[in-house]
Amino acid sequence: MEFMLDTINIEKIRYYQSILPLSGVTSNPSIIKKERKIDLFAHFKEIKQLIGKASLHVQVVGETAEEILADAQVIMDHLGKDIFIKVPVNEPGLAAIKQLKAKGVNVTATAIYSEMQGYLAIAAGADYVAPYYNRMENLNIDAVAIIKALAMEIERTQSQTKILAASFKNVAQVNQACRQGAHSITASPDIFAQVFGMPSIHRAVTDFKKDWEETFGVKDVKALEESEQ
Ligand code: G3P
Repeated sequence: MEFMLDTINIEKIRYYQSILPLSGVTSNPSIIKKERKIDLFAHFKEIKQLIGKASLHVQVVGETAEEILADAQVIMDHLGKDIFIKVPVNEPGLAAIKQLKAKGVNVTATAIYSEMQGYLAIAAGADYVAPYYNRMENLNIDAVAIIKALAMEIERTQSQTKILAASFKNVAQVNQACRQGAHSITASPDIFAQVFGMPSIHRAVTDFKKDWEETFGVKDVKALEESEQ
């Protein structure tokens, strides 16, 4: 399973980079807007340096296939050929994905709300397909069934495409995406904070610590070793 962060906040990436088995960082224009007006490419270069070999996914904004290809070129000129170009799967987007893949560019096909969009992006050779879990649920679209169908299609065709499930509002949605066969998920730092924020985890750790201290009278294993010398 690959875990990615759906943010470009440097502090959050630095914090979780040291904790998570981090496979990548994903972004889109709405995520960029949250950081207000930044020096875009300098900011992404800083993220690249922070995350090392993990992948960085940057979205195009062009509306025609030509504009999308031009955006992709500018992004690669600034950030390198190892960047993943995020392209929404509409008609111009799919046309651009075909051309980008013909040139060997890394592509993340995004804004996926339906099975058919996913099937087409897989057939076009996208490296990742990003179904929007919560947004589908909000539209009464069965996100579970769609991720399962895409996983089956990838298996059936022995495709190299990976499902990068996105758009999560809670941990239960992430769990469902994993169960249905998503190879990767991208989630905001808040979702990862929810995973570790369970009061029961804190309680267990506090109880273990208390029992340890009551048994040995020192705070940790190192202190125990020192007290025995
Ligand atoms: O990566 C795509 C994702 O950011 C969309 O999420 O929260 O805007 O539905 P959201």
